[in-house]
Amino acid sequence: MQYTDLVRPDVLKQPIYEPGKPIEYVAREYGLEAASILKLASNENPLGPSPMGIEAATKALREAHLYPDGGCWKLREALSTKFDLATDQFIITNGSNEFMTLLCQAFCGPGDEAVMGAQSFIAFKIGVLLAGAKPVEVAMPDMRHDLEAMLAAITDKTKLVYLPCPNNPTGDCHTQAVLEDFIDRLPDHVIFCFDEAYAEYSDDAPDLRPLIARGKKVVCCRTFSKIYGLAAFRVGYAYGHAELMSLLNRVRAPFNVNSIAQAAATAALRDHDHVARAKQVNDAGLKQLAEGFRELGLEYRTEGGNFALIKVENAGQMFETLQQEGIIVRPLKPYLLTKHIRVTVGTETQNARLLSCLRGILKGDKSDASSDERPPR
Ligand SMILES: Cc1ncc(COP(=O)(O)O)c(C=O)c1O
Repeated sequence: MQYTDLVRPDVLKQPIYEPGKPIEYVAREYGLEAASILKLASNENPLGPSPMGIEAATKALREAHLYPDGGCWKLREALSTKFDLATDQFIITNGSNEFMTLLCQAFCGPGDEAVMGAQSFIAFKIGVLLAGAKPVEVAMPDMRHDLEAMLAAITDKTKLVYLPCPNNPTGDCHTQAVLEDFIDRLPDHVIFCFDEAYAEYSDDAPDLRPLIARGKKVVCCRTFSKIYGLAAFRVGYAYGHAELMSLLNRVRAPFNVNSIAQAAATAALRDHDHVARAKQVNDAGLKQLAEGFRELGLEYRTEGGNFALIKVENAGQMFETLQQEGIIVRPLKPYLLTKHIRVTVGTETQNARLLSCLRGILKGDKSDASSDERPPR
């Protein structure tokens, strides 16, 4: 007997999440120096981690012999103050990815359905499949979530509806008024999961707390991986009704978030300078990239978050060519977008290097792609 005969059938249907290749791996493969490689593949913070977060993490290392605070009390208290919600309205997870898995584990099983956009952030679909439930993927005309079509896709079997704002990779988002109307029309047996991974980059992010207060079945998830620059620590959180959090705590593994990460996240929450600088660099970077793409005659989307989507003839080829030049971007095959690549907004210099490289590639003249900014080989 093979392991595949023994495993739960749902696991065999499960796609494996494909992260980008590590920098050292790409360097070795392409004969480049690791330090010269520019990774614009995972929507990380180009300014690096929150300095206050790193200081706190370094201190916390000294107590690494102790188990972490399994209830993440300090972090929940800090979040409670920031959001003006009760501490029991929060759950802290190992990245917001873990939250999505927990939500699906707790509420979905075989026979259940979860509604999402066909190009919604893929972690949710992975969580649904792992729970043995059925992802119902609703077409996204013009790469925007079609809320009417999502409502129409809801059946008696639907347990969860998922919507990121802005969505990764398409960047689309809906206004407060549109979201409120949508949520008001959701049937009572459905939980609405609102993914706010990039909310801090926005000037007018929707605020669903009033709907939670009104008793709507809404849960919002956020992360320390993006604007706080703590992706390696794996800390995410969600807020919603206390009863929901208490149920999610039943499926959460004990000590799911380590104490170094908890300390980093709690301190980073107070690091207003880092957040402000990251937002400023991102706002300027989005403009710089948009102008650059326009000059290059590329179709692009820079709607929200810290990333842009560009349309190219052959995304696989463009990904490969950029990688040869030492720039790692994100192809979007798992999202069935074979003519687009996603790039993370970098610093001014990093964005300039990307644009220069693209210019060279599009002109079919690699020498431009590798003029001044060419990485040493
Ligand atoms: C929309 C969205 N949600 C959630 C996440 C996952 O974040 P985390 O690192 O907290 O698991 C990402 C990461 O790229 C994302 O784009």
